[in-house]
Amino acid sequence: MYDHLTLISGRAHPQLAQDVAEYLGVPLAAVEIADFPDGETSVRLNQNIRGRDVFLVQPTGPPVNDNLMELLILVDTCMRASAERITAVLPYFGYARQDRKDAGRTPITSKLVANLITVAGADRVLTIDLHAAQIQGFFDLPVDHLFAAPILDEYFKTLNIPPEELVIVSPDEGSIKRSLQHLEHLGGSLAIVDKRRSSATETRQANLIGGPIEGKTALVFDDMISTGGSIVGAVNVARQHGASRVFVGAAHGIFCGPAVGRLSEAPIEEIVVTDSLPQPAQKQLPNLKVVSVAALLGEAIRRIHRNESVSHLFD
Ligand code: R5P
Repeated sequence: MYDHLTLISGRAHPQLAQDVAEYLGVPLAAVEIADFPDGETSVRLNQNIRGRDVFLVQPTGPPVNDNLMELLILVDTCMRASAERITAVLPYFGYARQDRKDAGRTPITSKLVANLITVAGADRVLTIDLHAAQIQGFFDLPVDHLFAAPILDEYFKTLNIPPEELVIVSPDEGSIKRSLQHLEHLGGSLAIVDKRRSSATETRQANLIGGPIEGKTALVFDDMISTGGSIVGAVNVARQHGASRVFVGAAHGIFCGPAVGRLSEAPIEEIVVTDSLPQPAQKQLPNLKVVSVAALLGEAIRRIHRNESVSHLFD
């Protein structure tokens, strides 16, 4: 059915790669990935990929540096094995938050990562919910940038919350555009939390702009939950302002450091994230619901492979 399409999984998220393979009806390619005793990564492809249209599935979540390095080595392997075209499929693009110099003498690591992926030999990138859309411009390659919002909204629609009882809460100023998109699909009104970041793990939130929120169901949407500081702060503000129920939605559940502890103690009815990253936190967070991006990625891969438009998947 798919001439010349080869799907390869790194070790970052084999389950998602398998689900994408099932959507496409193709097997995953035979590749051996292991660690040398000194910690270096070894890769060997056990099948011919000469002239193939290769899609490498590897989200660069924690351990970020290991997963990124493994991606680069996989790209190099495919390039040297004479793949015709290599698409780096990054359901989650790590280092995306280091996208500008926000202080003197600091790097722009997102740009460095884009350079590394390009120099390794990738021809295209397929990704979901970049922290900042302009990261696409860090690549001099075609980037297909998908959004998980329709998948999250689909889930929230099944809760049948009447729009007049719904408030979409933006956890910070940077998420207003995303919140407005959810508002368009789910209805309700908008409220914005005034977030100030004091360090990489600590945020401070107090004021709420917009609403009213009293007695309503609040849905707080962010692109990612990392240490949980931003989302838990927003949830607490929503509750302090009278929200009767609070749900949370995010494309990427990283859940690092204090996240699980913070989320377990927060008054959240349900936390909904995608499987852009593996979700071991599900064992500790009974209110964590995972929705899949496998079909979204599979459909995008099918269309890229066949040179069909991918644009309706962007909305
Ligand atoms: C910030 O601009 C992002 O959109 C997220 O709100 C943030 O990165 C989440 O990190 P944490 O969970 O550590 O607050």
